[in-house]
Amino acid sequence: MVPGHPAPILVAIGGLSGTGKSVLARALAPSLLPRPGAAVLRSDVLRKQLFHVNETDRLPESAYRPEITAQIYEILTQRAMRILSQGRSVVADAVFAEQAEREAIFEATRRLKVRFTGFFLRTDLATRLNRVGRREKDASDATADIAGLQERYNIGALDWTIIDASGTPEQTLKQCKIAL
Ligand SMILES: Nc1ncnc2c1ncn2[C@@H]1O[C@H](COP(=O)(O)OP(=O)(O)O)[C@@H](O)[C@H]1O
Ligand SMILES: [Mg+2]
Repeated sequence: MVPGHPAPILVAIGGLSGTGKSVLARALAPSLLPRPGAAVLRSDVLRKQLFHVNETDRLPESAYRPEITAQIYEILTQRAMRILSQGRSVVADAVFAEQAEREAIFEATRRLKVRFTGFFLRTDLATRLNRVGRREKDASDATADIAGLQERYNIGALDWTIIDASGTPEQTLKQCKIAL
């Protein structure tokens, strides 16, 4: 490592819709070294780019088929590795509900010998529904119905740091900064 040039890190932020991942990602990224902070990669934005639509344009359900989602996670990992190899930190904002999705990004950082931290945000369904309902002009297409269905997801073994996201955005950010 070169003095004055801190090594980049990858911070992955997972959690179901409405847990506050995107708000946290935006708040955390500027403080991650090296300057000027981390690049934020959002699965929601990558999906919109893949289909050549604007960030806030709604995609049809077919854009959320498992094979498309797998492709999005692959693109996310590839983009993250490219940015990291250029010496910049990355915040990866995606649900990461499946163990395989979490393992893939962790493995990629291990190969690059880049430090990895995974946070998984949790809060109750009522809070998530409230937040999803309040969201405006966001790249996420998740509706209350989708947010409700996610309660049935099998998250599997979680070896990421679980963050209680039921408080204010500031409280969530603080927990993550302490954990880092
Ligand atoms: N900790 C929080 N407390 C209150 N509202 C929040 C919190 N985090 C996010 N929000 C609000 O809830 C909505 C959804 O948050 P968002 O970050 O988009 O969730 P996610 O990306 O996990 O789906 C946004 O309108 C946001 O302003
Ligand atoms: Mg989001």
